[in-house]
Amino acid sequence: MALSCVLVAACGQSQPRVADVGVDGNLDRAVEDAGPRDVPVDLRDDPDVGKPVDAVVDVAIARVDASDTSPDTSPALSPDAADRRPDAAAPDVARAIDQAADVAPDAVLLTCTAGLPYPDQLGCTGLYSDWPSRTVDPAVREYRPGFELWSDGAAKTRWIYLPAGQKIDVSKPNEWTFPVGTKVWKEFRLLVAGKMRRIETRYFWKKSLDEWARAVYVWNADESQAPEVKAGIAKVAGTDYEIPPQLACVKCHGGRLDSILGFEAVSLAAPGAQGFTYADLQSGGWLKSTNGKETIPASALVPPGDADAQRSLGYLHANCGVSCHNRNSAGVKFMARLEINSAGTLGVLGDTGVFQLAINQVSDFLPPNAVKGFFYRIRPTDPSRSTFSYLSGRRDPVPDGRNQMPPLASHKVDVDAVAALDAWITGMTVDKGYPAPAP
Ligand code: HEC
Repeated sequence: MALSCVLVAACGQSQPRVADVGVDGNLDRAVEDAGPRDVPVDLRDDPDVGKPVDAVVDVAIARVDASDTSPDTSPALSPDAADRRPDAAAPDVARAIDQAADVAPDAVLLTCTAGLPYPDQLGCTGLYSDWPSRTVDPAVREYRPGFELWSDGAAKTRWIYLPAGQKIDVSKPNEWTFPVGTKVWKEFRLLVAGKMRRIETRYFWKKSLDEWARAVYVWNADESQAPEVKAGIAKVAGTDYEIPPQLACVKCHGGRLDSILGFEAVSLAAPGAQGFTYADLQSGGWLKSTNGKETIPASALVPPGDADAQRSLGYLHANCGVSCHNRNSAGVKFMARLEINSAGTLGVLGDTGVFQLAINQVSDFLPPNAVKGFFYRIRPTDPSRSTFSYLSGRRDPVPDGRNQMPPLASHKVDVDAVAALDAWITGMTVDKGYPAPAP
C-alpha cells in the first residue's frame, strides 16, 4: 500500500497501478481504463529556489559549520563497508583531519556530523577515501549506462558501491533488488564561464530493506565544499540548468520498486555501457537469482530493430521508460521501457511497448492547431504528426506541465536525440515491417 502511494506520487497519476501485468501479458491490459497523465506539481515553491547557487550553498555550508561535528562518530561508510576496509578503526573524520595537513591551503577541512539520518556533506558519504584530493574509494566502482538520461548537456559520472560479499537479486530481471548498504552517486559537471566545474552530486543509499536515503550535494564555486541542498536550485550560475529538489527525486525514481533506474540489465548490457558493466557484474559474481536469470547473456539484451530503432528505443527507455512510462506507473498510456521477456531477450520490434502502444495510436495530447483524431503518438514516416517528436523536441511547460517531455528538471532539448528520433520515425516504412501510417 505504501509502495503504491509512492508510485502514484512518483508519476503523478490518479489511476490504479498496473504492476500486476505480467511481463508477457498483453500490453493493452496495462492501459485499460488508464486516465490522462496528471501533471507534475510545481516544484519551485521552496524559498531557496531561484536564489543564486552560491548563496544557497553558502547557507548550507553555514548550517553544516554551525552543527555538531564531533569527530568520533558517524563513519562515512555504512557499517558493513567500514568493516571491510583496512582502516575501519579510524573514523573518516579523523582521517580527513590527518590528510588536511598535506593539502592546498584553500581546501576545506571535512567534518562529519554525528547522528544524522544520512550525511549532510558529500565528503561524508563514502564516495571519496580522501576528500582533499577527491580520491574515489577503491571499493566504489565507476559505471556508465549505455542508455542515459539527457541532463541538459551536463557531463555526468556515476559510481556504485556494493557491499562486499553481497549480491544483487535479479530473479525478476526487470526489477533488480539491491543489497542493503548499496550506495550510488551521480556527479554533474557543467561549463560555467568557460570552465568545466562540478555542480552537484546526487546520492542514493539503501539504508535498510525498505528505506533509501536520497540527497543532492551542491558544490560551491571553487569546489571546496559540497553540502546537501534539499530545496534544489532553479537556475545554476546564470544558466538554465536546474538542480531538482529532493522532493522531485521520487517522481522519477519511483519508477522502479527498488529506486535505481540506470544500474539495470538493459542499460548496463547495452553496447555503449562503460566501466562496471553487466558482463562485469556477471563475471564478478555480483548477481544472484532463484531461477537462473543471472545467466542471461548481455548479447541477448540488445534492443531489437536496425541501428535507428535501437538508438531511439534506448533513448526512450532511459528518458521516458525507466521512470514513468512503465508498468509500475498507473495511468500512463504507453510503455517505453525495454523489458526482458520470459525467454530472456528483449524480443522483436513488435513486442516493444513503443510499437504496440504508440505507433498509429491517436494522441490525447494535441499541440496547438492539430486536428483531434489525426495526431498520433507516433505516425510512421511522419514526425510532424507524432507526439513523441513534438514533446521531446520542446521545452516550454505550460502550467499543467504537459508541453514537454520529460515534464520536469529539463530546460534544454536534446537536439541530437530528437533528430535521431525523427530519422527513425521518418524511416518507418512498410518494407521495414512498420504499419502504413494511419490517416
Ligand atoms: C527526470 C527524472 C529524474 C529526476 C527528477 C531525478 N532522477 Fe536520478 N536518474 C534518472 C534516470 C533516468 C537515471 C538513470 C539514467 C542515467 O543515469 O543517466 C537516474 C540516475 C540516478 C542515479 C544513479 C543511480 C540510478 O538510479 O541509476 C542517482 C544516484 C540519482 N539518479 C539520484 C537522483 C536524486 C537524488 C534525485 C533527486 C534530487 C534524482 N536523481 C532526480 C531520472 C531522474
